[in-house]
Amino acid sequence: MAPPGDDDGNRPERGVDRRRVLQLLMGGSTAVLAGMAAAPVASYLRPLALPEAEAVAAIDDSLGLWEARQVVVAGRPVLVVRTNEGVRAFSAICTHLGCVVKWRKGRREFFCPCHGARFDAEGRVRGGPAPRSLARLEVSEEPGAIVVRKT
Ligand code: FES
Repeated sequence: MAPPGDDDGNRPERGVDRRRVLQLLMGGSTAVLAGMAAAPVASYLRPLALPEAEAVAAIDDSLGLWEARQVVVAGRPVLVVRTNEGVRAFSAICTHLGCVVKWRKGRREFFCPCHGARFDAEGRVRGGPAPRSLARLEVSEEPGAIVVRKT
């Protein structure tokens, strides 16, 4: 007696096996595609590991009173200002939405051109929408140079 099946003699169990294999292949392909799509996103979101050397910037010590100079520390803009109390260094990234602030020598303040936040020479919020002070960086005066370090 012939085993049960269709007119071609195929047994139903073999069709189920093929279906299961196709499901596994489709599932595997989907997982591979999802991994391929996620890799660049994960790479973009992971912070860059910067060499230690880039976490330091130096400028010559000719910075005048109430003058500022922009440097890059660990890939971020930093403003170095000489005040009556000494040299200060602040992140130039506005604490509101991240625009780059500028130094206004005449007003002795940092100003954000995006939404008008203002910070005093110590980086404290003086006005506008910024929620907190500018981040302060370690700065030191050494013979012939002002050195800024990311702490
Ligand atoms: S980003 Fe600076 S005030 Fe909005």
